[in-house]
Amino acid sequence: MIVTIDGPAGAGKSTVARRLAKRLGFAYLDTGAMYRAVAWIGLRRGIDWNDDEAVGWLAARTSIQWNGDRILVNGEDVSDAIRTTEITAAVGHAADHPAVRRWLVQLQRAVAEGVSLVTEGRDQGSVAFPDAACKIFLVARPEERARRRVEDFHARGEEVEFEKVLADILQRDRADQSRPVGALVKPDGAICLATDGLTIEQVVDRLEEIARKRGIGS
Ligand code: DC
Repeated sequence: MIVTIDGPAGAGKSTVARRLAKRLGFAYLDTGAMYRAVAWIGLRRGIDWNDDEAVGWLAARTSIQWNGDRILVNGEDVSDAIRTTEITAAVGHAADHPAVRRWLVQLQRAVAEGVSLVTEGRDQGSVAFPDAACKIFLVARPEERARRRVEDFHARGEEVEFEKVLADILQRDRADQSRPVGALVKPDGAICLATDGLTIEQVVDRLEEIARKRGIGS
């Protein structure tokens, strides 16, 4: 049984997807972390993303695995290393590459084999799991997403300018929506939930209600 949660950057997908999975007794898959992991190994190997042969070589020689919540690349725990601004800046190269997308979608389907899963990303309901039992499209106004991100920075003791964060969100929206393969779209049959003004708990409550109405969850 698969639940997909797609949506733009900063819509709160990771937090709510993780909590929803826990409530339903499902496993959780953060597919953004997989693109980040590929960007990380690409940077380490000095890959030229325009060289299709090199990208194919990388895909053939890279293993992505999990140990609980931790993501491993060729056995090395990269969970923290993939969250740097350097990786955020480079991840578009991996996410835009059709061969990388084919590789990761195949891996996502393999992970889902025989498992009940809440999977979260940009193309989970549209490309990876079009027949999922429940598809959610999570949205929020860019200003709201920027405001939340600024709060996250402040909670970590970091100062950031709202305008700069907003510009970054709008730039990521453009990149996500214009990707030639796996672009961010509302998947066919997905339920759209706007999270503006809702707390994380309220969003998770709403999602659980939607899922349980479909007979999903233990
Ligand atoms: O959600 P995130 O910021 O960790 O995602 C990292 C990048 O990967 C972001 O540029 C969007 C991209 N991505 C994607 O193209 N498809 C997915 N299923 C998940 C993430």
